[in-house]
Amino acid sequence: MGNDGIDSILREHRLFPPSPAFSDIARVPSASRLDALYSHAAADYEGFWAALARSELNWTKPFSKILDSTKAPHFRWFYDGRLNVSYNCLDRHLEKRADKPAIIFEGEKGDTRTLSYGELHREVCRFANALKAQGVALGDRVVIYMPMVPEAVVAMQACARIGAIHSVVFGGFSAEALKDRIEDAGAKVVITADGGQRGGKIIGLKVACDKALKSGGKSVTTVIVLKRTGQHIAMKSGRDIWWSEAVADHADSCDAVAADAEHPLFILYTSGSTGKPKGIQHSSAGYLLGTIVTTQWVFDIRDSDVFWCTADVGWITGHSYVAYGPLANGATIVMYEGAPTVPDAGRFWSVCERHKVTIFYTAPTAIRALMKFGDSWPGKYDLSSIRLLGTVGEPINPEAWMWYHRTIGRERCPIVDTWWQTETGAIMIAPVPGVVPTKPGSCTRPLPGIAADVVNEQGNTITKPDQGGYLVVKRPWPSMLRTIWGDDDRYVETYWKRFGKRYYLAGDSARRDADGYFWIMGRIDDVLNVAGHRLGTMEVESALVAHPMVAEAAVVGRPDDVKGEAIFAFVVLRGERPPGGVDDKITGELRNWVTDQIGAIAKPSDIRYVDNLPKTRSGKIMRRLLRSLARGEQITQDTSTLENEAILAQLQGKA
Ligand code: WTA
Repeated sequence: MGNDGIDSILREHRLFPPSPAFSDIARVPSASRLDALYSHAAADYEGFWAALARSELNWTKPFSKILDSTKAPHFRWFYDGRLNVSYNCLDRHLEKRADKPAIIFEGEKGDTRTLSYGELHREVCRFANALKAQGVALGDRVVIYMPMVPEAVVAMQACARIGAIHSVVFGGFSAEALKDRIEDAGAKVVITADGGQRGGKIIGLKVACDKALKSGGKSVTTVIVLKRTGQHIAMKSGRDIWWSEAVADHADSCDAVAADAEHPLFILYTSGSTGKPKGIQHSSAGYLLGTIVTTQWVFDIRDSDVFWCTADVGWITGHSYVAYGPLANGATIVMYEGAPTVPDAGRFWSVCERHKVTIFYTAPTAIRALMKFGDSWPGKYDLSSIRLLGTVGEPINPEAWMWYHRTIGRERCPIVDTWWQTETGAIMIAPVPGVVPTKPGSCTRPLPGIAADVVNEQGNTITKPDQGGYLVVKRPWPSMLRTIWGDDDRYVETYWKRFGKRYYLAGDSARRDADGYFWIMGRIDDVLNVAGHRLGTMEVESALVAHPMVAEAAVVGRPDDVKGEAIFAFVVLRGERPPGGVDDKITGELRNWVTDQIGAIAKPSDIRYVDNLPKTRSGKIMRRLLRSLARGEQITQDTSTLENEAILAQLQGKA
């Protein structure tokens, strides 16, 4: 990147202010209230966070120290205080909300179950006692490899209750990936299920677990197995125990262990589009505080809400906005086990209608996939209970944003486009929905107390509007990662080295427009360099998706004698895929379209049509793999996390 950063070519001028009906009753109802938060954070940064930590958390031992920066970039927050995260999510609601639904669960086959706060508390206590009986103590690591069922949250909360450090491994990961994570964490116990239900099939979790432990994972002494799908599985005597047996004789109360504010709550391995997965380590108090206040500011949570975040607990979104943030706020959450298209593409909307979901939070990849099935599916359902929509995980292209706004939000609901990362623990840049007008494709402004900025190669703030650069955070924040488990050097190297340990480097490129709104342009590593212009992938992809024939697009660079790099696009059409993945007529039209939309500089040189884009299990496009394919290189990347390995031949232009 030159001093001037990355060129931006996309302009979006539509503006959507919140309706008075929404603002009037919002938790942050007016610009003056929001400004007061910003002013407090600007005038007294530590005091701002300390006040929230006092008002939002219940402490066993109150803290007197706020932030320790003496060993930067290793920061400690509220570090002489002690508390228990599970107490803050469950016990403190019992007086008023014992009978209020905490979790409304729906299985893929349609089975439903509701757990009140009282019931969830008892289940968590019983399971915490069971873990103790298996020898699990403060600081021990527990791997959770479960389907998306309430017991996954019970297991996480039970670990938190006794100070065990959980590492949730997404149920779609292979035995090999599970083994690596077990070994990296040195886990003592694995909690799994016989299987999970997804896409009409049974995912053999216990089988994968057995395979992982056969070839390694020697630290594991106990495997606790939930019976979910009921198919036959092998149980290894002396090591494996059914969940029902493990909890059988235990009491439904269990003291919540007071842990240090900085005690690691969990490790979560990032999906890792590059290299070996990193075990992101989070704290207890700071992490929980971040999830609590963002659930209030961004999701405007209130007691009557039914909050559905569709993310699996295997991802950070499922940690912060399924298992922790909403529960710590005493909210009702929905958990759905299966795929969005079973039995048909109306499933999400049917769940929203039946459980009267009021806040719906999902990923752009899911929105684009459901958009492809057309408006008739959401049209069949009553979505009038929904009052707020959210997105996370990738930049949302304006086309998908508008569809979400019209077809799901019925032009009534604000959309919160939330930028954050596994590493940041909680949402960092997002609209406060009762106050901040939204623009399709922008995550708007950093939240109060979050010093996000866009800087150039030298680390200086880019003041010129719409000039792209590095997205950084200039001050530590409570829910930030603390280190990479077992690899502290990599923590410093990855996130802090670039700007002399002064700023946290997010790894994304971004620009700020004349109104101070942030626009994420893609990962720094994916930036294209066409004829001397550095372009983020996001803008070109947005232009392609804006064409009525295009459902999804991913662009990468391939070397070009003239331009340095030429743009290679992989495109999923809304209709049939052209035979062989080539169609000169459509390609000609799309090239002209992109030229009209953003200029000739962004015109793809090649377009290959495929049925699906390669994505990680969390739905992120694997651009590194696409780059190798566009260059005709041998594939060296690990494709085991690919959700759809069968399409490799199409991507290679061989089918
Ligand atoms: C991307 C998910 C644009 C970004 C919570 C980030 C986004 C990475 C957005 C983190 C958004 C996430 N707009 N890009 N609203 N949200 N990203 O760790 O590249 O799975 O760095 O955390 O996703 O992904 P992760």
